[in-house]
Amino acid sequence: MTEAILLVGGKGTRLRPLTVRTPKPMLPAAGVPFLTHQLARARAAGVEHIVLATSYLAEVFEPYFGDGSALGLSLEYVTEREPLGTGGAIRNVASRLTSGPDEPVLIFNGDILTGLDIGALVRTHATSGADVSLHLTRVEDPRAFGLVPTDAAGRVTAFLEKPQTPEEIVTDQINAGAYVFRRSVIDAIPAGRPVSVERETFPDLLAAGAHLQGMVDSTYWLDLGTPQAFVQGSADLVLGRAPSPAVPGRCGDRLILPTASVAPDAKLTGGTVVGEGAHIGAGARITGSTILDNAVVEPGAVVTDSLIGAASYVGARTVLSGVVVGDGARVGADNELREGARVWCDANLPAASIRFSSDE
Ligand code: GDD
Ligand code: MG
Repeated sequence: MTEAILLVGGKGTRLRPLTVRTPKPMLPAAGVPFLTHQLARARAAGVEHIVLATSYLAEVFEPYFGDGSALGLSLEYVTEREPLGTGGAIRNVASRLTSGPDEPVLIFNGDILTGLDIGALVRTHATSGADVSLHLTRVEDPRAFGLVPTDAAGRVTAFLEKPQTPEEIVTDQINAGAYVFRRSVIDAIPAGRPVSVERETFPDLLAAGAHLQGMVDSTYWLDLGTPQAFVQGSADLVLGRAPSPAVPGRCGDRLILPTASVAPDAKLTGGTVVGEGAHIGAGARITGSTILDNAVVEPGAVVTDSLIGAASYVGARTVLSGVVVGDGARVGADNELREGARVWCDANLPAASIRFSSDE
């Protein structure tokens, strides 16, 4: 049996730009809290015991996921008093692990949607005899990530978190946020203080001659750090591009949750999700968007790549593209909001208030 640690914490700074009240790990992606997909994928790979290492808003996870039995898991929760960083969070839950010193423990960043073959990462770890094995992926712009150059055998030669200078950009391989640690390596992380695995543990291990093994897997991979990425991830789950056993229903162009109502001639495409109790009016066209519970989209509205908050309102003929409408907000009829616009929770934008012009 393999066990896992799921990191869902940090300072929560990334929640703010979303403008919706639900903490991001609990925000519905393809109809269920995002974390469900990670938990279900780990379970499908044979993981039975998962410790959720949290530093904030822990009180929202436990009431929903409970002991994990609904997902076939044994789930535990550990909340840090102060955020301990990624390494500190891992060390902080070490006492909950049941693995022996040489056994593998999986660790996942809590904001990643990926089709990673988890079993393959565990096998790579076993065959290479590494201390830590890392899932690596390739991205066009690696600056927001941890750079991980490897040698011909896949052995990690350096770990450069968030490179600042062009000279530091030595590879397009990045840390994809899934690891296998030998249990004893976890126990060796200093306890009781903040530690970053990316900035401290990995560089120190490399300096000490430890064996870090990279496994490049170019499957679907997305960090859901921005609202745009979140909406994209949800659509990809619905479309079946991002594999998850937790998508409620069959994959296809749209996912309409049971108590939603959609006018017969509304057009929903591109992996759009319509949440419980939401209503979509006649002739509305919604593409690649997430409509949260009890939202109302009036007739003729055109919504593209947007997140429409719970119990919010989008008026008739309003055009939204790349927008987040906060929970309970009201965007009146005949508005036009484009890429990057964020409507705060409960805000009220009267009809025909804003249109977009490029002035070209
Ligand atoms: N419990 C706990 N406590 N969890 C934390 C803490 C903490 O103090 N700090 C961060 N985390 C969790 C976050 O919730 C997230 O799931 C994960 O650790 C990574 O933190 P992020 O803040 O999302 O980091 P990042 O996206 O900038 O960079 C990380 O992920 C990249 C891939 O998306 C790094 O691991 C990079 O190296 C990596 O490339
Ligand atoms: Mg992240």
